[in-house]
Amino acid sequence: MYVNPRRVRKCQFVQICATCFILSLMMFWGSLEENIIVSHMKSYSYRYLINNYAFVNESLTLNRDNLDRIAGYWYLINHKEKCQDQDVLLLLFVKTSPENRHRRDKIRQTWGNEKYIRSHLNANIKTLFALGQERHSAQREQMQRRLQMEDKQYGDLIQQEFLDSFYNLTHKLLLQFSWVNKYCPHARFVMSADDDIFIHMPNLVEYLQNLAQIGVQDFWVGYVHHGSPPIRDKTSKYYVPYEMYPWPAYPDYTAGAAYVISGDVAAKVYDASQTLNTSLYIDDVFMGLCANKMGVVPQYHPFFSGEGKVIYHPCIFNKMMTSHGHVEDLHYLWKQATDPKVRNISSSFGGRIYCRIVNIMLLCRLHYQDTYPCMAAFT
Ligand SMILES: *[C@@H]1O[C@H](CO)[C@@H](O)[C@H](O)[C@H]1NC(C)=O
Ligand SMILES: *[C@@H]1O[C@H](CO)[C@@H](O)[C@H](O)[C@H]1NC(C)=O
Ligand SMILES: *[C@@H]1O[C@H](CO)[C@@H](O)[C@H](O)[C@H]1NC(C)=O
Ligand SMILES: *[C@@H]1O[C@H](CO)[C@@H](O)[C@H](O)[C@H]1NC(C)=O
Repeated sequence: MYVNPRRVRKCQFVQICATCFILSLMMFWGSLEENIIVSHMKSYSYRYLINNYAFVNESLTLNRDNLDRIAGYWYLINHKEKCQDQDVLLLLFVKTSPENRHRRDKIRQTWGNEKYIRSHLNANIKTLFALGQERHSAQREQMQRRLQMEDKQYGDLIQQEFLDSFYNLTHKLLLQFSWVNKYCPHARFVMSADDDIFIHMPNLVEYLQNLAQIGVQDFWVGYVHHGSPPIRDKTSKYYVPYEMYPWPAYPDYTAGAAYVISGDVAAKVYDASQTLNTSLYIDDVFMGLCANKMGVVPQYHPFFSGEGKVIYHPCIFNKMMTSHGHVEDLHYLWKQATDPKVRNISSSFGGRIYCRIVNIMLLCRLHYQDTYPCMAAFT
C-alpha cells in the first residue's frame, strides 16, 4: 500500500502538537495547588469502582476523654410533650433560622399542617421547626422575644443555644437526633427538611404508610450523593481540610434538603453521632458518616430532589415527593398536590399512558435542566 510520506509527517506533526498541548495543560493543572479536575476524576473513579468505604477509619472517632464534651447545648424552647403517647407515622423536622418566620408560616399553612394531614390523609405527623439563636448579638434579645411569641401561638419550635449559622449546621442535626432519641423514639419515620422545599405530603404519606405496613427497617431514602469528593478549594463554602477529612470521597449520603429514615436508623445515627468528631460542619455528610459507621446505606428515590426543582405539570405533581427552592409558590403547589382532579389525572388507563409520555418528554430532554432524572419518567 502506498502511503504519502508528506501525509505521514503531517500526521506526526499533529500528534506531537496534540501531545505537547495535553502535556502543557497537565503541567498547568498540576501547578494549581488544589486541582478540581483531577480531584473530580479521582472521585469519579471512586464513584464507579469503589462501593464500600472501609477506608473511613477510626480516626474520626473520639477517644473516651472527649466524649463528655458532646453533652450538647441547652434548650431555649422545647416541647417535650409533642409526641407523647401517640402513634406517630412521621416526625418532621424543618431546619429553619430565626429570621425565616415568613417561610415557617407558609409551611404551617401547607405541607406542615398536622391537622389537615390527620383529617384528610388519616396520618399522624408531628412538625417541629429546629433552630439556633440569632447570629447577631445586637438583635438577639429582640429576636428571641419574637420567637417566644411565635412559639406561644403555634407550639412547634425547638431551639438550642448554639448560634444559628452555616458552620453550626451539624449542631442543628444533633439537635434533631437527640430530640428524637429523648422525646420521640417511637416515631415510625423521621424526616429532615430545609425550609425552602416543597413536600408532596399526600404522595409521601401514602408511600410511608405502605412501608410501615411491611414493617420496613434500616430505611433511608432521599437524593443520594454517591462517592462525592470533599472540596479542597479554600474559597468554597464547603471547603474541608485534609486534617478534618483525609479521604478522597465521602460515604454515600442523602442531600440535606429532604430525606426520610425509619425510627431504628434514627436511633443508630444518634448512637454514632455520640462517638464521632463533630467538627465536620456539612451536616448531611456528617449524617452519612454516622450511618456509614452503623452500616446503614441510603437508597435513591427519583422524585426526591437534591437541588432540583419540579416542572409544573399535573403528571409530575402526581408522582413527586420533594422539590427544592420554593417559598412564594408553596400555596400554589399545595393546591395542586391536594386537588382531587390533579390526583385523578393518571387514574385511568389512558391517563397513565398520557402521563408516561408527558413525563418522558418533560424529563428526558437533552438540554440541561435541574429537575428529576429521566429515569423518573419510567417509574
Ligand atoms: C486512617 O486513615 C488515615 C488516612 O488514610 C491513615 O493515615 C491512618 O493511619 C489510618 N488510621 C488507622 C488507625 O488505620
Ligand atoms: C456555633 O455556636 C456556638 C455556640 O453558640 C458559638 O460559640 C460558635 O461561634 C458558633 N459557630 C459559628 C461558626 O457560628
Ligand atoms: C476534631 O477534629 C478536628 C480537626 O478537624 C481537631 O482539630 C479536633 O481536635 C478534633 N476534636 C476532638 C475532640 O478530637
Ligand atoms: C376521580 O376518578 C374517579 C374514578 O376514576 C371518579 O369516580 C371521580 O369522580 C374522579 N374525581 C374527580 C374530582 O375528577
